[in-house]
Amino acid sequence: MKRRFIYFFLGLVIVVSGCYYDSVEALHPLDGYVNPCDSTLQTTYSSAIKYIISYNCISCHNSSYAGGNVTLDSYDQVKLYASNGKLMNSILRNSGYNPMPPTQALATCQTTRIQQWITNNYPQ
Ligand code: HEC
Repeated sequence: MKRRFIYFFLGLVIVVSGCYYDSVEALHPLDGYVNPCDSTLQTTYSSAIKYIISYNCISCHNSSYAGGNVTLDSYDQVKLYASNGKLMNSILRNSGYNPMPPTQALATCQTTRIQQWITNNYPQ
């Protein structure tokens, strides 16, 4: 009886830690480094674009802090600003737009990839 309880308890721990792991994954979906300039990556939101945004933009454009009221934490949001032209104009530091990121321009390979993603009609 005692042993059975121990197994039950162990099982419970495994199940609970499994759930905990899941929620950590959900909160930090981008753990692990992906080089957005890696030419073998597909130019899709999920394999490249979200990493560029995550490394360079998300700190100021998330649900708790959204600079200029712009959030960039989902495919739909990034697509919205890509399609209204603000994303690329800001990244290219064109006049009339706030240069983004504010301090230093993105690497050329990142800018090129975002432009390609827009040209290809925002593949998910
Ligand atoms: C250090 C914080 C910070 C970072 C990093 C940052 N932004 Fe911003 N962003 C802001 C703020 C603040 C605004 C509101 C305008 C302003 O005050 O400059 C803004 C505005 C914008 C706008 C609206 C621009 C306009 O002229 O209408 C876009 C689009 C944007 N950011 C995209 C990005 C992208 C894409 C990145 C990453 C490549 C990025 N931002 C990185 C703080 C940041």
